[in-house]
Amino acid sequence: MKKNKFKIAVFAGDGIGPEIMKEALKILKIISDTKRINLQLCEGFVGGIAYNHFGTPLPDSSLELALRSDAVLLGAVGGPQWESLDYSIRPERALLGLRGNLGIYANLRPIVVFDELLDASPLKKSIIQGIDIMIVRELTGDVYFGKPRGIKKGKNGKRKGVNTMTYTEDEIRRIAIRAFEIARTRKNNLVSADKANILETTELWRDVVTEVGQSYPDITLKHMYVDNCALQLIRNPTQFDVIVTTNLFGDILSDEAAMLTGSIGMLPSASLGKKTALYEPIHGSAPDIAGKDIANPLAAILSVALMLRYSLSMPEEAYLVESAVTETLKEGFRTQDIQQKAKKLVGTEEMGNNVAKNLRKLLN
Ligand code: IPM
Ligand code: MG
Repeated sequence: MKKNKFKIAVFAGDGIGPEIMKEALKILKIISDTKRINLQLCEGFVGGIAYNHFGTPLPDSSLELALRSDAVLLGAVGGPQWESLDYSIRPERALLGLRGNLGIYANLRPIVVFDELLDASPLKKSIIQGIDIMIVRELTGDVYFGKPRGIKKGKNGKRKGVNTMTYTEDEIRRIAIRAFEIARTRKNNLVSADKANILETTELWRDVVTEVGQSYPDITLKHMYVDNCALQLIRNPTQFDVIVTTNLFGDILSDEAAMLTGSIGMLPSASLGKKTALYEPIHGSAPDIAGKDIANPLAAILSVALMLRYSLSMPEEAYLVESAVTETLKEGFRTQDIQQKAKKLVGTEEMGNNVAKNLRKLLN
């Protein structure tokens, strides 16, 4: 029997997190009410707000909640008031703690240009029309987790910063397999971005990805140096279908690719592991616009769609949520980050309400 009872951990976090989360949950509730799925939503603290209450960005209670859930929905973490804290207790550490402890090694970042927003991108329409890229970023290895790390005092009394780039072949193999499998459901085209000409860690990356590729003769695999990949993303982005890359390179390439679409406020992500998964918008906590009801809730809403697809086995409903977003854009509603001439400027809540209205229509 298909499972219809799910426990979802909800971490709104900091900055615009709570505002966009409110809209995302509105959408989720419409789905659970209409489809009669039993969702247990459990809210918890992560990030700066958790630090304020508990003195740590990822309290044990929140980590446990995440570990016991079928999926985690996250808003955003961080803000200037926590920037002077030691690295080990900064809000962003909560993300690393969740990623590491949940073992969610595969971060999927779909980069899709909505036709309705073609003019919102700083790039020419002819370059970006038709972009549909899936960035598969490794999420639990590399310099983000490698040891040794830190800022140490050398013998000469001067400080030295150290981070370690490491990957084991097993870590590379499992993310490569994910990427090949994903390419198989799309256009059978995989680019692996590395820096194998200079970094041994990614020389191993290239070897293992090539090895895995031998089991996927139907997928065209191309290796690209990450600097060239960054260039190609601007020069000719529609050449890409799936890009698989390391944690650090994926962080950078995904922000770059996000901008092709006009606004990072449109892009959701899914982080998958063996058991549970985490869904969050790619954008950060945007403290400068927090609390003003102007943030774009669409990335958070689209993250709910990814959750329906990958964790709740509800691909049709995921598609309906995505369609409700497209419909809302077609109707001309825009938050300020994607505002274009002669469109209807709305705030966070009104944008959410419009998507909700369209979703209800589509469900009927
Ligand atoms: C992201 C973010 C995070 C990262 C930060 C906030 C730690 O930029 O998810 O892309 O670097 O992974
Ligand atoms: Mg990033």
